[in-house]
Amino acid sequence: MQPLRGKTVILTGASQGLGAVIARALAAAGAQLVLTARSQEKLDAVARELEQQGSRVLSVACDVTREPDRDVLIGRTLHAFGRIDVLVNNAGVEEIRAYAEQDPATVTRIIETNLLAPMLLARAVLPLMLAQKSGHVVNIASLAGRTGMPYGAAYAGSKGGLAEWSISLATELQGSGVALSVICPGFVAGTGMFARKQTPAPRALGTSQPEQVVAAVLRALSGSPMEIVVNPKPVRLLMALKALSPRLAISLSRRLGLVAFLRRLAQSGRPIS
Ligand SMILES: NC(=O)c1ccc[n+]([C@@H]2O[C@H](COP(=O)([O-])OP(=O)(O)OC[C@H]3O[C@@H](n4cnc5c(N)ncnc54)[C@H](OP(=O)(O)O)[C@@H]3O)[C@@H](O)[C@H]2O)c1
Repeated sequence: MQPLRGKTVILTGASQGLGAVIARALAAAGAQLVLTARSQEKLDAVARELEQQGSRVLSVACDVTREPDRDVLIGRTLHAFGRIDVLVNNAGVEEIRAYAEQDPATVTRIIETNLLAPMLLARAVLPLMLAQKSGHVVNIASLAGRTGMPYGAAYAGSKGGLAEWSISLATELQGSGVALSVICPGFVAGTGMFARKQTPAPRALGTSQPEQVVAAVLRALSGSPMEIVVNPKPVRLLMALKALSPRLAISLSRRLGLVAFLRRLAQSGRPIS
């Protein structure tokens, strides 16, 4: 039997991009899904597609940064399915811009959506999972949170915080029956916030396919690894170098063209995604 068959999964950011691809994979694995994002219309389109393939799906419009919305999401999930087995914190926003030029409200929104909301959603579901001695929280962070990201400093801060909080909490939860994993994708092609920029990634980093992020989510849910990095080129070296010497890591990033690439993206002035 597949481990996800009949399990209740809350998936945030399910209306488009990677979330919609993850939703399809979780549905195919037999999960009953609670899809959430702010856009009810887009959520309903994803839900209809999955229902037509025989999945049980509930879509709940929710702004994850708002406590009343999070309460409604959890209340409606319990009312419909009676339990919560998995929470996938996938909703996220980013803006590539020089930090000194970023609107303070945008900085707040990035931190609230990418870091605070996953922390508070997990805080809400963990007592239920601990009581049932089973459950899994999967956080979609980013390679930016592990290597740093000039011109995406607020985003990198939110994702770095998410990754560190994830590892700390995963350790705290060991032996409880509840697991926590964090996925750190680099640039993803095909769909999502990077693909919408329609700019090729620097060759030194390359791009992953959405299916590789999905495979990481499924691997996390079946084997409980704490952290999975999804990137076609080896980046553990950059991560290790950053831990040993940020100065050397910055110099390598410059030589690989990453800093110039992100500066060009920032100058193209695209709005928050
Ligand atoms: N694409 C990449 O290259 C890449 C790389 C590394 C990490 N990631 C991470 O992967 C995750 C998914 O990214 P993506 O590329 O699929 O982005 P996306 O296409 O922009 O989708 C983001 C999703 O988050 C939802 N969302 C945003 N703010 C929300 C809020 N306040 N409340 C509820 N839902 C909200 C959006 O729906 P609504 O607008 O309807 O609310 C949408 O469903 C993000 O956490 C992102 O940081 C992406």
